[in-house]
Amino acid sequence: MTAEYQVHGAVAVITLNNPPVNGLGLATRTAAVQGIQQALADAAVKAIVITGGGKAFSGGADIKEFNSPKALAEPSLHTLIATVENSTKPVVAAIHTVCMGGGLELALGCHYRVALPGAQIALPEVKLGLLPGAGGTQRLPRVLGLEMALNMIVSGTPVASEKLAGTALFDAVYEAGSDLLAQAIAFAENVADARPLPKVRERKVDYPNHEAFLQFSRNTVKAMAGPFPAPHECVETVAASVTRKFDDGLKFERERFLHLMQTTESKALRHAFFAERVASKVPDVPADTPVRSIKQAAVIGAGTMGGGIAMNFLNAGIPVVLLETRQEALDKGMATIRKNYDNTVKKGKLTAEKLEQRMALLTGTLAYADIGQADIVVEAVFEDMGVKETVFRQLDSVMKPGAILASNTSTLDLNRIASFTSRPQDVIGLHFFSPANVMKLLEIVRGAQTGKDVLATALALAKKLKKTGVVSGVCDGFIGNRMIEQYSRQAGFLLDEGALPEQVDQAIEKFGFAMGPFRMGDLAGNDIGWAIRKRRAIESPEITYSRSADLLCEMGRFGQKTGGGWYDYKPGDRKAYPNEQVNAMIVQHSADLGITRRQISDKEIVERLVYSMVNEAAHILEEGIALRASDIDMVYLTGYGFPLFRGGPMFYADTVGLANVLAAMAQYARGYQGSAWQPAPLLVKLAGEGKGFNS
Ligand code: NAI
Repeated sequence: MTAEYQVHGAVAVITLNNPPVNGLGLATRTAAVQGIQQALADAAVKAIVITGGGKAFSGGADIKEFNSPKALAEPSLHTLIATVENSTKPVVAAIHTVCMGGGLELALGCHYRVALPGAQIALPEVKLGLLPGAGGTQRLPRVLGLEMALNMIVSGTPVASEKLAGTALFDAVYEAGSDLLAQAIAFAENVADARPLPKVRERKVDYPNHEAFLQFSRNTVKAMAGPFPAPHECVETVAASVTRKFDDGLKFERERFLHLMQTTESKALRHAFFAERVASKVPDVPADTPVRSIKQAAVIGAGTMGGGIAMNFLNAGIPVVLLETRQEALDKGMATIRKNYDNTVKKGKLTAEKLEQRMALLTGTLAYADIGQADIVVEAVFEDMGVKETVFRQLDSVMKPGAILASNTSTLDLNRIASFTSRPQDVIGLHFFSPANVMKLLEIVRGAQTGKDVLATALALAKKLKKTGVVSGVCDGFIGNRMIEQYSRQAGFLLDEGALPEQVDQAIEKFGFAMGPFRMGDLAGNDIGWAIRKRRAIESPEITYSRSADLLCEMGRFGQKTGGGWYDYKPGDRKAYPNEQVNAMIVQHSADLGITRRQISDKEIVERLVYSMVNEAAHILEEGIALRASDIDMVYLTGYGFPLFRGGPMFYADTVGLANVLAAMAQYARGYQGSAWQPAPLLVKLAGEGKGFNS
């Protein structure tokens, strides 16, 4: 049953019933159309109420059917809305809690709309790169006016129903907590004999001087939409509600909707939407796996990461004990946390009262005895196995049974870390990204012995901390850093061959990355990579790198923190200014290698940076380090500034075509450092089958 039909006196009530948000899937649409037909056939019924069961009127399209033929099968949403609008008996929408997308479009097809306060009213299609395709762009302006409707459709932002009381959207907004259905039935009885039936399509959009307003909107959207076409199309379709007759406007809306459905940008947004949802699912960890309760946290190390990690718990209302080895380091860490919150208060994003509430949840200590009762402890000490060993042996001896022991290590072997304890089932990697209080990504590293309940708890915790949790197996660098290493290597080789940092950064930033590799290095500190390369030189001497980054560090240029790195920086200015000595060092290094520098195209730069990551990702997928290609995309979209409109590296490779990726790689394999281009077997296989990573 996906819509229930009941008769109350002379009023038929159709209750949408498709949890969790009464998505308008095929079965629900079919049942709703049947309900209307049944009501029309019953002479005793004089009016009809449509409402939603449970926690929504309707959230719109059923995401479970999004990419299936069911989404467009008859009765389509258009057909349902037309059936409602053409009903010869009045139809009243009784709206509560959530009324979004297709749900709002359905309500707009009803003759009357009544609501409770607090209902979220929105047409959020733009967030998936689309526009409301079932009359929303034509009907909403007819009830809310051009300006308000356009703002809602272009932004997709929900507005509370009580704020829209008094507009033609609602015929009544009742008191909070009152009986919506009883009032809707009474309303329906009242209007049972009213004729003609009011139809939104017959209203006019009155907006004197609409052309000036539309032009203003076009300019605003141009400045804000970035590479996405949907906001522009939203403006044009809403404009049609003023400039065209209703049916003509509806046709135009349909045409633009179908066009947007085919754009890569919308496909990328929809891919990311589903990728985020699926990332929290682990095949051998069922949804009903018990989770451990997290009421108290501890963080070891109050440095760059420890402080940010502590803030995540504080923001979620979870008390934190922060442990350091020295009072001075502890004081510094605590002061940094307060300073970060102070800045948020200054920006008006946090009240002074909330700041104090959060700080009150934080205590500092130098003694392990003070953290034993925590339900979870996250270690963020120096990236050194010896230091990690000391910490984990101590944690093993002081933490209460059942506590989760997490490490924030970015490169070290989690299984070894777990082996320092007598409870490897309780050990997990929680790899936060810097700044940890801001970045959405949380790589959840599953050790060989990590308990399923511990993994399920970490996934639930990610949600609580408002992070996107992505599960990774154990390997050097996990998903994200293992791939970025190939990208960094290529960036270095490009310098050896003829490019300068500025050209590389500009090319990849034009592609859409938030920041190119060299500006990024200057921000994060070039010494970090230097330390990793020194370790690798011992552990894996066969891996080659450009020496230019080492030479830069030897010049003492670690990045912004030392006043300069690949670039120079001016105080109070984040802009990167090319440095002549650095560029001369790069040119000299090419000469030392015997390389005649050549002009390198932006296309080559982008392909080498991106495809090198894609190839590594194919290994990661094949080895089972990542559960699915879309998880890799999530890592890059939420942790590495990969352009959202390109959908992540795997999605992007699919749009290019894996055979094309492979062909470009074969060409680079013939060039400088060509051995870096050994194609991953999975990539070869999928390309051969004409398949993509995500299909
Ligand atoms: P950091 O050097 O800023 O902070 C480390 C802190 O740990 C220092 O305050 C130090 O006093 C303290 N510490 C050292 N030994 C300790 C011990 N035995 N007990 C208690 N405290 C101790 O380092 P950062 O950058 O915060 O890195 C910490 C961990 O996070 C490392 O494993 C690193 O690989 C990882 N990580 C770092 C990221 C970054 O961008 N900085 C990103 C993701 C992970």
